[in-house]
Amino acid sequence: MTITRIDPTDTAKQTELNKFYIAHNLELTDEGEFPYPYKDVVFSYELHDNSDNFVGAVTICSFNDDFMVGAICVLPKHENKGYGGILLQKAIDELSGKNIFTVAKKPDFFAKHGFKEIKRKNDPLLSDCYNCHSYQKNCFPKVMKLGTNKV
Ligand SMILES: CC(C)(COP(=O)(O)OP(=O)(O)OC[C@H]1O[C@@H](n2cnc3c(N)ncnc32)[C@H](O)[C@@H]1OP(=O)(O)O)[C@@H](O)C(=O)NCCC(=O)NCCS
Repeated sequence: MTITRIDPTDTAKQTELNKFYIAHNLELTDEGEFPYPYKDVVFSYELHDNSDNFVGAVTICSFNDDFMVGAICVLPKHENKGYGGILLQKAIDELSGKNIFTVAKKPDFFAKHGFKEIKRKNDPLLSDCYNCHSYQKNCFPKVMKLGTNKV
């Protein structure tokens, strides 16, 4: 297994990852684009298995003075083998102690890594969700936060 850090200046590689997220219906704008501009990407990690097959990736973005999980995705055939956890933990370790937010479609996954649900009225992080046809029908996202710094 190999985990590789993608620097934000590597826009060609980031474009590849964005296409991967889009192909798996993650974090899209109404136009089907990845919503975070390259300037907001702080870093990404991608993971390959022992046969060097691409398995998944995580992208961390800036969010005001804090950070957010812009996207995390593991290929469906490789889910539930611990790969998502490895990717998320690598990002958490790099950001050591800083606030990390996420709009979690799978809250239990994030809770296992220490994220806690936060409730803020009309949370700006959820604003993209409000007009989505899946919101509160088959997608029940929660805003979650890891870290102790005040927001
Ligand atoms: C969310 C996502 C990234 C998690 O990735 P993953 O690789 O399946 O995550 P993990 O394998 O680390 O953890 C998932 C489960 O597998 C279990 N698991 C971990 N290692 C395991 C192993 N070696 N053997 C069996 N189960 C294992 C974990 O305990 C966890 O259990 P839980 O579902 O009861 O919490 C993945 O499901 C995904 O890409 N989903 C689609 C995109 C998405 O929804 N992204 C999140 C947006 S907020």
